[in-house]
This record gives sequence, C-alpha cells and structure tokens, in this order.
Amino acid sequence: MVVQIVFSWFSALKSLKCTKCGKVLNPEEIHAVCPDCGGVLYARYDLEVAKERFSWDALSKRSRSLGLWRYFELLPVKRYENVVSLGEGATPLLKASNLGRHLGLRNLYLKDESLNPTGTFKARGVAVALSKAKELGIKKVGMPSAGNAGAALAAYASKAGLEAHIYAPKDTPTAMITEIKAYGARLKLVEGTISEAAAELSKVKDKEGIFDMTTMKEPYRVEGKKTMGFEIIEDLREIPDVIIYPTGGGTGLLGIWKGINELQALGLVGSKKPRMISVQSEGCAPIVEAFRKGLSTVTPPQHPSTIAPGIRVPKPYADYLILKVIRESNGLAVSVSDNEIIEAIKDLAKYEGILACPEGAATIAGLKKLLDEGSIGRDDLVVVINTGSGLKYMDLMRKVFT
Ligand SMILES: Cc1ncc(COP(=O)(O)O)c(C=O)c1O
Ligand SMILES: [Zn+2]
Repeated sequence: MVVQIVFSWFSALKSLKCTKCGKVLNPEEIHAVCPDCGGVLYARYDLEVAKERFSWDALSKRSRSLGLWRYFELLPVKRYENVVSLGEGATPLLKASNLGRHLGLRNLYLKDESLNPTGTFKARGVAVALSKAKELGIKKVGMPSAGNAGAALAAYASKAGLEAHIYAPKDTPTAMITEIKAYGARLKLVEGTISEAAAELSKVKDKEGIFDMTTMKEPYRVEGKKTMGFEIIEDLREIPDVIIYPTGGGTGLLGIWKGINELQALGLVGSKKPRMISVQSEGCAPIVEAFRKGLSTVTPPQHPSTIAPGIRVPKPYADYLILKVIRESNGLAVSVSDNEIIEAIKDLAKYEGILACPEGAATIAGLKKLLDEGSIGRDDLVVVINTGSGLKYMDLMRKVFT
C-alpha cells in the first residue's frame, strides 16, 4: 500500500491567496500571513487537475490506515518523504443514539477526535503544517498554545527531528505540560492566557529564527483540519444540516467549511451548505458577542476565564473569517456556562461512553440550548465535534466525578 502511495502521490497545491486583499503568493516559498495586509493566507489547489484523481471511488481504494493523508491531492505536501505522521485522522463518526434520544434529536452524530495521536484534533493541523514546514526546509518551530496544540507540535517535532518552542499559560492542564516536556520541546510557561503566551513568542521568534505556527498565522494547519470535513462527508455521503464546533482560534470551523467547499467545487457532493455553529464559553465569548452585535471583528474580553482552556482565546487572528463563515452558512454563535459544560461532560459519559474534553462537551451544551430555543430542529442531522479526550484533563475530571 505504501509503495503504491509513493508512486501515485500528488499534491494539486497551486498557490497561496490572501483572504483579505486577494494577493497571490508562491507556495514554494515560506509564508506566514499576507506581507501586504496581514490577512490569513489560504492554500488554493488546481481543482481541474485534482478532479482527475480525487473521487469517491479512488478514495474507497485507499486504506483508512493512511489517516488524513488519504486526501493527498488536496493537501499541500508535494513529496511523500516529507510526510510526518503519527497516524492522525480517520476518526470515527459515531451515531450518538442514546444522547440523541435523551435530547429528543433523531440524528445526532459525534466526530470523535479524541482518537488522534496526542488525544486531540490538534494532531491533524500540526501533522500537515509540520510536514510542509519540513518540506520548506524549516528547522525550528514555535507556537503559543493552550496546551493541546503545543503537545501535538512537540510530538510531531520529535518525530521529524525539528526543534520546537512552546509558550503556554501557567494554568495549562498537567497532562499537556507533561507531554510537551516528554517529547523534548522547549517550554515556557507564561502568566495569563494564550494572548500573553503569543506576545512572549513574538519577542524572541525573529532573533532565534523560530518559524511561528500560531493558529491561522501560517497557511497549513487549517489544511489538516479541513480533512475533518472530508471525513464527515465521506462517511455520511450527504451534507449535514448543522455542524457544531467549539471555537478558540477557529481552525476547525474554518477547515471543515473549506473542506466541504472544495468537495463541492469538485462536484463530489451537492451544493447544500451546513449551518456552522460556533460554541464558546460565557467566560470568553468574543465571537458570540461580535456575531450578536453584527460586527466583523472581535473585542477581546477583559478577564477571559473558563474550564475549557482550548476555547479561552480572547482575540482569534482569523476572527473576520470565522464570523463570515457563520453568517454565510446561516449559522449561529452561542455561549455556554462552565456548569453547562460539566453537565454535558456527564451526559456524554453516561449516555455514550465518551469522556469528552470540556471543549468538545461544550458543543453538546450549545446543542441543548439551541434545541430548547428552537434554533435547531429535532429532525435535523447534527454533527458535533468532540475535539479531544477528557483523559487530558484529569485535574478537572477528578472534580467532576467525585
Ligand atoms: C480540545 C480543544 N478543542 C477546541 C480547541 C479550539 O480550537 P481552535 O483554536 O482551532 O478553534 C482547542 C484549542 O486549543 C482544543 O485544545
Ligand atoms: Zn493581503
């Protein structure tokens, strides 16, 4: 199988395009954000060429053990030998029948990302971005992280033999800090949130020659995340009515949307749009607030606080894109309290045998609210993303299940 993939490996990556000013850049060069306006750069593919190879039939012949690399035509890595993989992707889309019945919803599916290497969906974005970084000759990488992305970066950097520098808040859960150390990355703990961690990295990155892999400040993590969209559609063979995602920096929401749009551009699925729903915590809900006020960028909250560290992101860099996708998809943004997140953690454990991370559980808390309000119909086909494993939050789980 591997031999066959080596010979037929092909990426249709064509260019990088600024999502703000439209500037087009060469993907053979190292780019972070748009050099003219600072906008987020998106990878663009030659879909005419991809169309000749990328079909449901072709995909059905590729082993699921290749994980997200099954979609290589629409990924940015040009040469197979640059792929750095720990087995990411190809996670199950579980029918959550018991919890669905409890909530009065007929078609509830849970995309269980806890089965990824390092226990979260962060593995997808990091695997693809780090593979591309390796291909471009980058030797030192760094990122501010709420914990999970840092753990993933540390693991993949170890596998690739690259040097990783992680900046994380002091209150990052123990498991993630331990993982980062275990994989041999340099770790700096910072007072405050991911924003303060980012500021620390910014001070040293140029001097130390660190390539900054901050969420949405380099073009390829979102490419890894879009494979969640590919997998959801490949498993369902239809577009769900609703997709609910716990939003921090927004890579997953943007990625799923980008992935579904690419499948539609290839004619592999109908033109219906899923409603993209962003869930945040009441203690840090900049996207929800901007959405309600009709704004296109966020105002960071003064005292961001929540039990779900991955969604404690006061100022997502791609705020304008996240808000655009929510509006374009006729979606919504909703905030939930920490208590509602805890109830959802309990429900997922009790009804589905899943110990979800608090961020993933937040999607169920948001779903409950929107069902009660009547914003989601009881016949809707709903997909929630459980972005990671609760096993990485034992400090919290011990308190919840005493
Ligand atoms: C478990 C988990 N879920 C969700 C998120 C939010 O992801 P994003 O920043 O891509 O929106 C994070 C980010 O740290 C996370 O660790
Ligand atoms: Zn630009």
